[in-house]
Amino acid sequence: MLKLRPLDAACPIEQQLQNSATPVVLVNLFTVDEADTPALMVAWEKDANWMKQQPGFLSTQLHRAIGGSCIAVAQAKSLIVTPGLWILIPAMAATGGSGMFLSTSRKGRLVEAKKRRMAFIAANGLLVLVPCAIILDRWAATGTFDTSFYAVQALELVAGAINLALMGLNVRDGLRMSGRLRVAPASVKRS
Ligand code: HEM
Repeated sequence: MLKLRPLDAACPIEQQLQNSATPVVLVNLFTVDEADTPALMVAWEKDANWMKQQPGFLSTQLHRAIGGSCIAVAQAKSLIVTPGLWILIPAMAATGGSGMFLSTSRKGRLVEAKKRRMAFIAANGLLVLVPCAIILDRWAATGTFDTSFYAVQALELVAGAINLALMGLNVRDGLRMSGRLRVAPASVKRS
């Protein structure tokens, strides 16, 4: 759906039109989904051709943003939520659940450490990473790339790095328990 938003909220276009200064340069920002880009180009060309016939009109130019633009960021943030979270959350629940199941017949330092890490990974994921991903998606969709956006982004990166490190430790301890990873002896005694 078409939504008009002033580039400068303090002085929207209606207010600027009250000014009689000439000549006028109109800067218009269009934010559309990638799939809607061809339709926008067609509509813009039609409008431009009409504008070119208006008395006093000088010229018009359409520039297209490329990789790394707000639109690309918004699309990436949206993919993290859908389908990203829908895949990640069940996958993590299955990993933790299967680990807990395997650990019923096991005892020891490695099992206890894995359980503690899993509790932290789950809490960090559900209480920090999921809300961060949803908030960043919403803000990116509305073009809100302010200080709060980057603060939440930084928090997400730190929390994500912690979870990745803890998952790495769980993989290491899992491989040790299954006997696929041999622990090197701490020291070798010489006779
Ligand atoms: C992020 C979460 C976890 C990851 C990434 C992970 C990863 C792994 C990996 C890679 C293995 C080795 C599998 C193999 O060699 O076939 C393993 C084994 C194991 N994991 Fe986890 N694990 C996680 C959570 C847990 C939890 C919460 C527990 C519960 C204490 C657990 C208990 C076990 C046990 C008991 C084994 C040994 C299975 C065997 O005897 O072969 N894991 N895990």
